[in-house]
Amino acid sequence: MGIWIINSKLLNEQNEQIAAKIYIEEGKIARIITGGSAEDGGQTEGHEVIDAQGKLAAPGLIDMHVHLREPGFEYKETIATGTRSAARGGFTTIACMPNTRPVIDTPKTVHFVKEKAEQEGIVNVITYASITKNELGRELTDFAALRDAGAFAFTDDGVGVQSAQMMKDAMAKAASLGMPIIAHCEDNTLVEGAPVTDGAFARKHGLKGIPNESEAIHVGRDILLAEATGVHYHVCHVSTEQSIRLIRQAKQLGIKVTAEVCPHHLVLSDEDIPGLDANWKMNPPLRSPRDVQACIEALEDGTIDIIVTDHAPHSEEEKAKGMQAAPFGIVGFETAFPLLYTKFVLTGRWTLSFLLDKMTRKPAEVFGLAQGTLAEGAPADLVLIDLNKEQVVDPAQFLSKGRNTPFTGWSLQGWPAATIVNGKVVWSE
Ligand code: DOR
Repeated sequence: MGIWIINSKLLNEQNEQIAAKIYIEEGKIARIITGGSAEDGGQTEGHEVIDAQGKLAAPGLIDMHVHLREPGFEYKETIATGTRSAARGGFTTIACMPNTRPVIDTPKTVHFVKEKAEQEGIVNVITYASITKNELGRELTDFAALRDAGAFAFTDDGVGVQSAQMMKDAMAKAASLGMPIIAHCEDNTLVEGAPVTDGAFARKHGLKGIPNESEAIHVGRDILLAEATGVHYHVCHVSTEQSIRLIRQAKQLGIKVTAEVCPHHLVLSDEDIPGLDANWKMNPPLRSPRDVQACIEALEDGTIDIIVTDHAPHSEEEKAKGMQAAPFGIVGFETAFPLLYTKFVLTGRWTLSFLLDKMTRKPAEVFGLAQGTLAEGAPADLVLIDLNKEQVVDPAQFLSKGRNTPFTGWSLQGWPAATIVNGKVVWSE
């Protein structure tokens, strides 16, 4: 027995929504019927039937940058709660960052995360391992052993690798294994405990600022190292026009560089921060309106390849410590799609196909995943989205343990209604 999804819509290549009926069997998409024949109810007898009531069926969203906090910070999030939050946001594959405690820097920790994800997770979880032991930047981890344990790529996300020699060695090693290096770009000597971007907001509140160069210096350094080593180099959460300039040039030169951007860096600038509320504090910080424009244009012209949330849950007590002392990070799973749909698709700036591409097909292509497509034979990972549903963001409803979002009270449209992973409905409203 399989599952028929009836009365759904698919986006065709012309960005038109067409009637569709989808048959799922043994975890795969077995048949897709579109157009007039999709309305005939014939084949569904003897199978489970999901009536999509006109909702859009899209490939499950993919998020290549998330913090699940397990092991070590279970009070912020667990694999169980984080994957439920992801499912509610329409995500079916997520890649978790290694800045846990212990850091994911040994095969044992990789195994722990993989096993936990299989037992308690409800979406596909793939895991990064760290570049350096304990993310301290002093000694490389054992890349081959981590790969054999199941890590798919390496990053010290949360901190930048400060030593150029360490980064070069890491890239050479990763290149020899055919694996990518993913970099959190931040030069610590330019940051010195600043909580927000160097700009109007910092000046107004007498706070130290994180300058754009602290990100771009690492991007420039790493592009040169990627050119020298031939590694696939992927830049985390790009936030500045200077980084974009460097990535654009590197791509023109044929250097193997890819990049990601977060919804908040496409929608908010430091001018939007209402006051000293740490729910607006993340790293990289909200930048100037000019940087926001540069990020949007870079995504549009392909300089930036994909959208990621950087889902970074923290407890309410931690976030209540104020702008200076609270940790960096905001949650992202449960607002990402409706936020971008409302701000960019409903306003006519992007097509729906464009947005979905950056959250499905493109991340799969960049990291060589089988997911990201809604086609016969592909994994049955999909999301049904109610494009007409309007809802106000209410963190109290989040399935994440984290409530730390700047989008509280925003009225957004286009909410996921059901999420299917490997042919099983894992979440529905
Ligand atoms: O805002 C952030 N939060 N940026 C990071 O780089 C790390 C993350 C976290 O782990 O909380």
